[in-house]
Amino acid sequence: MTKIMLLGSGELGRELTISLKRLGCTVVACDRYEKAPAMQVADEALVFDMLDAAQLRAHVQSVDPDLVVPEIEAINTQVLIELEASRTIVPSARAVDLTMNRDRIRDRAAELGLPTAKYQYAQSLEALLKSYHEMKRKTVVKPVMSSSGKGQSTLDAGDEKAARAAWQNAVENMRGDRPKVIIEEFIDFDYEITLLTIRQRNGETVFCPVLRHEQVDGDFKRSEQGTFDMGALEAQAQDIARRITDDLQGYGLFGVEFFVRGQEVIFSELSPRPHDTGLLTLYTQNLSEFDLHARAILHLPISDIRLLRSGACHTINAEQVAESYTIENIDKVESMLEVEAMHFNKPSAYLNRRLGIIFAPDAATAEAARRHITISYR
Ligand SMILES: Nc1ncnc2c1ncn2[C@@H]1O[C@H](COP(=O)(O)OP(=O)(O)O)[C@@H](O)[C@H]1O
Ligand SMILES: [Mg+2]
Repeated sequence: MTKIMLLGSGELGRELTISLKRLGCTVVACDRYEKAPAMQVADEALVFDMLDAAQLRAHVQSVDPDLVVPEIEAINTQVLIELEASRTIVPSARAVDLTMNRDRIRDRAAELGLPTAKYQYAQSLEALLKSYHEMKRKTVVKPVMSSSGKGQSTLDAGDEKAARAAWQNAVENMRGDRPKVIIEEFIDFDYEITLLTIRQRNGETVFCPVLRHEQVDGDFKRSEQGTFDMGALEAQAQDIARRITDDLQGYGLFGVEFFVRGQEVIFSELSPRPHDTGLLTLYTQNLSEFDLHARAILHLPISDIRLLRSGACHTINAEQVAESYTIENIDKVESMLEVEAMHFNKPSAYLNRRLGIIFAPDAATAEAARRHITISYR
């Protein structure tokens, strides 16, 4: 029986655990808090700080897994690199390490000649102001280490006060202790997409039908699949995704993010693991992104990826901090035709924490269903 050590036990980890268990694996779910979603369905749970080198090393040694499967970014990647000499890291320690920080993966994409937004880096407020004035355009400032839009600001040209505030916002909301930001050209995109890309040991790289998604303050709120057509641009995105994932190496599913503007497909970033916008594949596809990741990391063949129906989803986010909470009116949502609500069972709430998601045949229905939901806090 393949033993999996899952690093990160949120809603994506929970679905991956279910997929892996269906294929006969044993899963040890790890995170820094108790009763995390994946822990509720895994064989064993471990609570520790995955950014702490000594703790991570010791726990991997004692669990002795066949595969170490990172499910979040906040992991000590140096330890993963060191461990790779004797164990398999999914998809590869290099992929996890390069994508942990925005700068490394962005530089690699630029070295490979992939189209990206223009960008510069800054490690101090002074350097940020210098780059910002040089760029003379609308920009997005992001900490190089952060996720879910944390610490991001969008700046118009020539607003020094806003640039100073952007530095502050980035420093206060970054991970790690060495401040570094990326200052990126703002792309006035028509829409943005995730291309779920599966790298296999015994087969060609394969793709899911494109997901289009919408972010609010940099955080994923809606995605849809099968409801639109990118035409020839889809093959362009696939070509870029194949090039960057071939460079990263390893086997598994990657979420490759792009901006689409006119006839341009612009690489943005990628996750070497299932992507939050891809939760929708639980509703739309014959094999979800979690089933696909599980198959790829176990080197099982993927004979067919098919869209069984088109769909859209809308996240359910907390509006405040609370030790406990209840999601109300799930019955109203479930009474709607072809609409499904999914509860993540997280123990507590904080502002914007993702607590659940709604799946529906189209974006308007998902939105309408979301409006039925209320959350009561205690
Ligand atoms: N250069 C940019 N131009 C326009 N929008 C951007 C840019 N960079 C980021 N965004 C918006 O912010 C969202 C989150 O940014 P992203 O770089 O993907 O960070 P995260 O790691 O937090 O997902 C993107 O999906 C997009 O909506
Ligand atoms: Mg992103």
